[in-house]
Amino acid sequence: MAYTLDSVLITEEELQQKVKEIGLQMREDFQDESIVLIVVLKGAFVFAADLIRELKRKVTVDFVVASSYGNQTETTGKVRLLKDIDINITDKHVVIVEDIIDSGLTLSFLREHFKLHQPKSMKICTLLDKPERRKVDLKADYVGFVIPDQFIVGYGIDYAESYRNLPYISTMKEE
Ligand code: PRP
Ligand code: MN
Ligand code: MG
Repeated sequence: MAYTLDSVLITEEELQQKVKEIGLQMREDFQDESIVLIVVLKGAFVFAADLIRELKRKVTVDFVVASSYGNQTETTGKVRLLKDIDINITDKHVVIVEDIIDSGLTLSFLREHFKLHQPKSMKICTLLDKPERRKVDLKADYVGFVIPDQFIVGYGIDYAESYRNLPYISTMKEE
């Protein structure tokens, strides 16, 4: 099946406003504590780039590459960790930054993986949350938007590696 863009679900202005709010909340929560943001590539790179500039403080940023969808629209159920973190997170306050939580498999895998490093604390920050699709119990600490079970792209999120550069979130429909 092929898909094409349908309609705008979240506008660029709404996204920017929400990112500011999340940034402000994190600043209040962490105050002067040092934090490490772990960005889950590829999807979270756009959100994370905007979010770190809203934190307006010293942060450390690292990246993991995790993929479970390949070019499919349904999760394969198997999370592949293609690149791990390079920096030491032991005894650090860690925030994992994701673009979307769907089945929850990616983040539950990463959470267990990072726990082994014994961080001081670990929070999850996601721009989008699709609770209807959950296969494992997983709740984020910072959630931008709770969205219905619609096929979406943009602001980092892809369909077969395209559309990540849209500045808004759009739904997709069958061609
Ligand atoms: C997508 C998305 C999340 C994950 C969410 O990544 O960016 O990382 O799936 O789904 P889940 O909760 O069902 O695990 P994807 O595997 O498509 O890789 P990408 O970020 O490189 O597009
Ligand atoms: Mn991803
Ligand atoms: Mg993807």
